[in-house]
Amino acid sequence: MRTVYVNGQWLPEDQATVSVFDRGFLMADGVYEVTTVIDGKLVDFQGHVARLERSLAELDMPSPAKADELLALHREIVARNGVVQGRVYLQVTRGNPGDRDFTFPDPAKTAPTLVMFTQMAAAPEDSAEAKRGLKVIAIPDIRWHRRDIKTVQLLYPSMGKMMAKKAGADDAWFIEDGLVTEGTSNNAWIVRGGKLVTRGLSHDILHGITRAAVLRYAAEAQLQVEERSFTLTEAQAADEAFVTSASAFVMPVVEIDGVPLCGGRPGPVATRLREIYLEESRKTAI
Ligand code: PDD
Repeated sequence: MRTVYVNGQWLPEDQATVSVFDRGFLMADGVYEVTTVIDGKLVDFQGHVARLERSLAELDMPSPAKADELLALHREIVARNGVVQGRVYLQVTRGNPGDRDFTFPDPAKTAPTLVMFTQMAAAPEDSAEAKRGLKVIAIPDIRWHRRDIKTVQLLYPSMGKMMAKKAGADDAWFIEDGLVTEGTSNNAWIVRGGKLVTRGLSHDILHGITRAAVLRYAAEAQLQVEERSFTLTEAQAADEAFVTSASAFVMPVVEIDGVPLCGGRPGPVATRLREIYLEESRKTAI
């Protein structure tokens, strides 16, 4: 049984609870982060904390802890649960004001809720998905227009994954005005003539921490990158495609809305970037 963190307490997972009046539960008034653990260490922790602080600030939500305290909590939860390969999930909500009310509670009277738990995963090298690659379908992006804030409003992304499953695929890419925004829980990339293409940062997509790392590593490997939007048609005509996220790392995409890429197999650039990402993450994890 896992040990879970809830507002200053370490509890067995079956005893870890929050109030029915918690605004995360009633209003999806909460933000989250998922940090990868490789070899018992945290990958890109500084990036995740910086994005968490940004999400909180954008929503005028009080912060439950400082960055160094969060690092200590992350390390403690990894140790308490003996996580070697996996992730730490962290969620902050605007807390429990004791009743349901649309207006925000006074932060002096209602403290934010902080919950953390761990998830185990297979070693990245053993990923069967990475070896065969993902099939994605295209669906309209009907999410709200502040996708740069990592909120827990994940109903439509969940629906997107279900639509993909129903269609015999693995995941979905969101399309807005004919352009790919991102995947349900990852950033979308294509490779054309050796160049990497991924959408630029704005309110339209989550500013992926893995995306930023891959941009750094691509520059070091002298790969050319274009940060710009691309259409579904351009993606289907690309040499390769892949997605990035803290849980999938660099994950090849082998089919987009029924059109196979690269002979339906993971491409060389995506495969190499996955190796570089894992190598560098092992070196820089803390
Ligand atoms: N999802 N875009 C969306 C919509 C996401 O939900 C995520 C992450 C990403 C990639 O961000 P990062 O590289 O920082 O993980 C992009 C997490 C992993 C999740 O919901 O489980």
